[in-house]
Amino acid sequence: MSLIRNSSATELVPGAHRAAFLLDPTWDFLNHGSFGACPRPVLEAQRRVQEELEAQPVAFLVRTLPERLEALRRRFGAFLGADPAGLAFIQNATTGIASVLGSVPLQPGDRVLTTSHRYYAVRRALDRGAAAGGWAVDEAPLPAVVLDDDCVIEAIFDKVTPKTRLLVVDALTSPSALRLPVERICAEARQRGILTLVDGAHAPGHVPVDLRALGADWWVGNLHKWLCAPKGAALLWAAEAHRGATHQAIPSHGFQLGLHAEFDWPGTFDPSAWLASGAALDLHEAWGGPALMAANHALAGYGQRQIAAALGIEPPHADSPDRYGAMAALRLPLPAAQAKPLYEALIKRRFELPIQPFAGAVWLRISAFSPYNVPDQYDRLAALLPTLVRGLA
Ligand SMILES: Cc1ncc(COP(=O)(O)O)c(C=O)c1O
Repeated sequence: MSLIRNSSATELVPGAHRAAFLLDPTWDFLNHGSFGACPRPVLEAQRRVQEELEAQPVAFLVRTLPERLEALRRRFGAFLGADPAGLAFIQNATTGIASVLGSVPLQPGDRVLTTSHRYYAVRRALDRGAAAGGWAVDEAPLPAVVLDDDCVIEAIFDKVTPKTRLLVVDALTSPSALRLPVERICAEARQRGILTLVDGAHAPGHVPVDLRALGADWWVGNLHKWLCAPKGAALLWAAEAHRGATHQAIPSHGFQLGLHAEFDWPGTFDPSAWLASGAALDLHEAWGGPALMAANHALAGYGQRQIAAALGIEPPHADSPDRYGAMAALRLPLPAAQAKPLYEALIKRRFELPIQPFAGAVWLRISAFSPYNVPDQYDRLAALLPTLVRGLA
């Protein structure tokens, strides 16, 4: 079968850039989604930044860092369809979400809405904010298998109350690997006067992002997952109306001096992951940009179909290409308690992928990053699973 669409075949043959990664060849690494994997040229760019920094730390950190970050924000603004004035570098999505939650003027009695597919750490951040601020968290129960946008919209907006002030919603969900209709969700929220924070932790380099079209109040996205930047590189975006009142969770010299002054200096730190993110964007573009994303998506679809066919289950979203990106999640015919034994059995066989209890069952999630993943890895996983699953049922 052809896994390649709309692209030059030589560039996007799955596995063609395997040598660019340090990944241990004795593992089948099918979990790009959790932490990405940083290629050698990007790590080398990071190392060069670190050496330059250590040659004259004060000149680097005080005199040149602000303009370097400004130049990178312009580049990422073009990549993400965003006004660079609204973009700020952060360490990770977690920091960005904490910063936004600390900035929204929530009052005791207010309610913040999220969905049942949210990332667990985000729920914990919401719980902490709620406990400190006297507000409450609601979760809209999304179906485990999403058939159309309407059912997502309905599930979310059925949970809105007159006290709902903020909606925190994922662009791509972690346990279920779903692409949610975030533009439509933000538009519906805006009509109701509800602020929106889009958790785009998985979005940059995974799916096309257009922050102007998105219409959110805030957005966070990791560069260290699908863009393959060094770990510790992510971006926050704030709509114009919120820029002056969006504060870094860690206050420092720049407190109340504007978005960039606040976020560019979270105390003394190593900015090399941020500064090497331009090299990661170069590589993303050299590997095809949109064509790379399409190839990853095709490979995820292939893996999803192979596993589902081997297990005799439905590949829930295989025929809805807009419903998933470069990850696919499958509900296995096992009780939730069997997630850990199945995970351990796969680890023993050196397959790295998340197996989690979710929505009352065991869910498996594959990632597909075509520069190093190949169809054979999904074929072999599919061949292995029926016996393992039968043994645990
Ligand atoms: C949906 C979602 N939100 C937030 C995060 C947190 O990202 P980080 O650990 O880089 O802060 C993740 C991480 O996987 C995620 O999947």
